[in-house]
Amino acid sequence: MVLMQWNEKMSVGVIELDADHKELIKVINRLGTISEDEARRNAIRQSLFALLRYAEYHFAREEKVMAACQYPEIREHKLEHRDFVERINHLHRRFD
Ligand SMILES: [Fe+2]
Repeated sequence: MVLMQWNEKMSVGVIELDADHKELIKVINRLGTISEDEARRNAIRQSLFALLRYAEYHFAREEKVMAACQYPEIREHKLEHRDFVERINHLHRRFD
């Protein structure tokens, strides 16, 4: 994210000082980039956590229904659920 942009109106009429100000603006803009990256990382981390929590909640409900219906492939389906939770857990841990 560009926070500041140097323009001719900012010139103090001294080449060296203008160069300093341009460098300061570059550093400020670098900070803007870092915080945007961090915000994106936090959003991804939170989304992975929400996915994990909701998947666990849903899978428990679904497994109860499958058991009640005596769904013939319940064992395989439960393993798919475990595998999904493990993969999201792994991604979440890698993010931390
Ligand atoms: Fe489901």
